[in-house]
Amino acid sequence: MKTAVVYYSLSGNTKDTAQKIAAEISADLIPLEAEKAYPDSGFRKFYWGGKSAVMGEMPKLKPYDFDASAYDLIVFGTPVWAGTFNPCIRSFIHENRDVLKDKVFAVFCCHSGGGGEKACRKLREYLGIEKWKAEMSLIDPKDRPKQEDETQIREFCRKIQEENK
Ligand SMILES: Cc1cc2nc3c(=O)[nH]c(=O)nc-3n(C[C@H](O)[C@H](O)[C@H](O)COP(=O)(O)O)c2cc1C
Repeated sequence: MKTAVVYYSLSGNTKDTAQKIAAEISADLIPLEAEKAYPDSGFRKFYWGGKSAVMGEMPKLKPYDFDASAYDLIVFGTPVWAGTFNPCIRSFIHENRDVLKDKVFAVFCCHSGGGGEKACRKLREYLGIEKWKAEMSLIDPKDRPKQEDETQIREFCRKIQEENK
């Protein structure tokens, strides 16, 4: 299946995993960035990012290259922000809802200790799908690397590549 990994990453954890997945299954990477960047340090980072996520904001995205017709499967990669998925992912789905119909979806969330499953569920509901082809949550995989992350990523890639599931 021709696959795109659509992700947002503020501090590199989600990006790191997105790159590993793309390398493993020969997928294209579609990084998203807000036109007005979120603060990436100190109190402001958690305050503005958390508020934006909780409020369900849809920030204007920098231009990105995404031709939906080229892909069968979309993998979303998001950090957990205040228990939910990242606002740039929300913007992307909002902008592409029509062309995402009939795609197959998988998801991975990076977080620092909790909320991965909840964020994946919220994203699934926002997309309006019944289930993910594959789902994974990792704890700060770049900042706190663990051998089991590599096992999880390989298993995630295996599920993505299974036929008709
Ligand atoms: C605004 C903001 C809110 C966050 N909220 C949560 C949270 O609710 N639960 C959690 O476990 N981690 C939370 N985190 C931590 C990140 O999800 C975690 O460090 C993740 O691995 C960062 O991914 P990134 O490096 O790709 O940006 C938050 C981080 C930020 C910046």
